[in-house]
Amino acid sequence: MLKRIGVLTSGGDSPGMNAAIRAVTRSALSQGIEVVAIEDGFKGMVEGSMYLMNTRSVSDILYRGGTILGSARLPEFKDIEVRKVAVAKLKEFGVEAVVVIGGDGTYRGAMALTDMGINCIGLPGTIDNDIVSTDYTIGFDTALNTVIQNIDKLRDTSSSHHRCSVVEVMGNKCGDLAIYSGLSCGAEIIVTQETGYDEQEVLAKLRELDMNRKKKHAIVVISEKITDVEMLAAKISKATGFSGRSTVLGHIQRGGSPTAFDRVLATRMGDYAVELLVKGIGGHCVGMVHNEITSFPIEEALAMPKASRKALFALHQRLI
Ligand code: F6P
Repeated sequence: MLKRIGVLTSGGDSPGMNAAIRAVTRSALSQGIEVVAIEDGFKGMVEGSMYLMNTRSVSDILYRGGTILGSARLPEFKDIEVRKVAVAKLKEFGVEAVVVIGGDGTYRGAMALTDMGINCIGLPGTIDNDIVSTDYTIGFDTALNTVIQNIDKLRDTSSSHHRCSVVEVMGNKCGDLAIYSGLSCGAEIIVTQETGYDEQEVLAKLRELDMNRKKKHAIVVISEKITDVEMLAAKISKATGFSGRSTVLGHIQRGGSPTAFDRVLATRMGDYAVELLVKGIGGHCVGMVHNEITSFPIEEALAMPKASRKALFALHQRLI
């Protein structure tokens, strides 16, 4: 019988992580299992920054962005010696199993700890939506809504000044924030790693939108790490009839109160993670597939091929 579990958040924070922490904590406590908060991800595990929680510890956090536990990236966790220290700390605190909330790096840590005898369950907490074993990650919907609100505002001013706004969105190497926000806002052009980037093609398309289609404004949504958006905006001013302006939305996308979708997703997933640990399962990650909460071995999940968004890009093209 499981007596005490830990919970941590790791990697970039995402809205809804707190809702997941609350669900894990209250679901475990309701079954007589104690819950230890591990601060700042695997770093806190190694340093022994842990404390016992009660049901009040997670009061008033369901609707808050960020993570009350703090988060960090710890590349050193790949080192077995570092992990041995973490396992020793967990044993010292009587923690038998852990729910880890984060992205794919976090999942790798969870898998390695499971191999060392500490059952871990991963929950997908990232705004990037880059975990293939779930239709949606916790935080993606909130970040997407933040992006949309900002693009809508940019469109107002762009339209007043016959401008083209180039908007850089996050996502690491995943284009989902770009394609979903582009579709939601009717962006004229969407560029992601999947579409590829051809600067001349972008400029030609903008000239066509200006001269033939007589568009009052244009929005280009582009995933981060593709090109320098400030330089692209300058080229747009020179080579098209629009004056170009660039906006990097940056970490604004990571904050804010989670949407209802993210709160429900995080709550369902947190509860399911505890259910798995109670059954003695470790090394799995939780996902939502066709609205059903399910789980996969982490190794299998990390090897799943990324779903193509071709159909969404084609739809976008047909409607512009
Ligand atoms: O993984 C979440 C994310 O926000 C990515 O979209 C982005 O590339 C990265 O984290 C930024 O990391 P940091 O907060 O360390 O600058």
